[in-house]
Amino acid sequence: MSMLTRQQLNSRAALSATARAAGAGPHAGAPATTGGPAAGRGTGSDPDAQPTGGPRGDLRFPTGFGWGAATSAYQIEGGAKEDGRGESVWDTFSRAPGRTRNGDTGDVAADHYHRYADDLDLMRDLGLRSYRFSISWPRIQADGTGAPNQRGLDFYRRLVDGLHERGISPMATLFHWDLPQALQDAGGWENRDTAYRFAEYADAVFRGLGDQVPAWLTINEPKTVVQNGYLIGHHAPGFQNPQAAYLVAHHLQLAHGLAVRALRATGSTGRIGPALNLHPCYPADDSAEAGRAAHLYDGYENRLYLDSILKGSYPADVLDDLGADSWMARGIADGDLETISSPIDLLAVQYYTPYYVTGDGGTVTRWPTSQADWQQIYPDGMYDILTRITRDYGPVPLTVTENGLPQADTLSADGTVDDNGRISFLRDHMAAAHRAISEGVPLESYHVWSLLDNFEWAEGYDQRWGLIYVDYPTQRRVPKRSAHWYREVIRANGL
Ligand code: FCB
Repeated sequence: MSMLTRQQLNSRAALSATARAAGAGPHAGAPATTGGPAAGRGTGSDPDAQPTGGPRGDLRFPTGFGWGAATSAYQIEGGAKEDGRGESVWDTFSRAPGRTRNGDTGDVAADHYHRYADDLDLMRDLGLRSYRFSISWPRIQADGTGAPNQRGLDFYRRLVDGLHERGISPMATLFHWDLPQALQDAGGWENRDTAYRFAEYADAVFRGLGDQVPAWLTINEPKTVVQNGYLIGHHAPGFQNPQAAYLVAHHLQLAHGLAVRALRATGSTGRIGPALNLHPCYPADDSAEAGRAAHLYDGYENRLYLDSILKGSYPADVLDDLGADSWMARGIADGDLETISSPIDLLAVQYYTPYYVTGDGGTVTRWPTSQADWQQIYPDGMYDILTRITRDYGPVPLTVTENGLPQADTLSADGTVDDNGRISFLRDHMAAAHRAISEGVPLESYHVWSLLDNFEWAEGYDQRWGLIYVDYPTQRRVPKRSAHWYREVIRANGL
């Protein structure tokens, strides 16, 4: 399993851990180098650059384009013990010593559970057309099984009603990593049964909220659970077991397919699809070795999830690399790929960074990084990944459900937050998305990660990803300069 070891060394968490050990601060990372296959194509937005002004309207998006912002339950809600909510793996993980930066947890987070009405007003003021949020499984089923908790459903019903009242379209993710701890105790995603529990939970949510939610996303970034949760152990549940990791990948894909079928079984007209973080994987040089290594890297990063859902088969090169005796290979039952490839209505793409792969399967950094050392700022990667999906998988409707960057934003004495680097980043990535649309990519909507500053998993609260600043001691919200800029983009329907 040579490639697995590489993945382990190169994934997002490992990179940040390495940079931290080396004493690197915000914006650390290798300086941008030029050359290589992508040279000359990047606009290379500088996180510290000054924006050149408001949107000029030169790049108009299709009428009705779904400008949005995204969040997830554990990262913003808080209210950890309220209204019958059970424990999730992230409660357990974040409370364990040494697992998160500063020992931060999501117990309070941005206190959205109590402040959702004010947050809805902020979304209305931004002019959002779409809001992507996630439903906390342990609020609906404290132990991951049995009758749904009505108080949990009621919270999301109030949220969804509030969105409709403000003319914002809800997009709900069913699983954004907060697995009920009781299911983890029963084996978690290594246990095939968890996929069936997920389908039951999804069914309960569809019956409770389905009439009001036009778009559903099944599993958020299965790959991050696989790599960060099971290869590196930097995310919950915190294991380091390559065999288990890819069995988990299969079960997450199975859970996705079962949830798609569960929605259809309710007779709902709602749309549904997966939310995948996809990374363009470029060879780091012109050698045949780098070309081959980049192809396999792409298999682990992208095709493992795309091929199974959209083509009904796992990529042969990845299965070969894992080996016929791998836990994953042995865990694939007859009919699973049919379930996994149940027709979807939309594919959600989350784009943050490219990878440049060397002949030995390692990676190099070619562009400036953000405060997150794993993130190289390369807007053309957005164009490349969107056009590639349409080219390789056909005209499946696309939505970008996450794109953004973290900064060490500060609230100045005059009450403003000047996050000009975020404006440059967003503008460049939106322009890349626009270019993909003009070349025929069926992209319907785009969501900034994130609406609010929030609990960034192992990084705790140090990284601020929001359009809206959260002053955690007071929970005061302050729209950053990027929020004001985004409001004008939405109003102009373009850049
Ligand atoms: C994605 C996650 C999201 C957030 C962003 C920065 O991988 O889906 O919750 O952490 O990264």
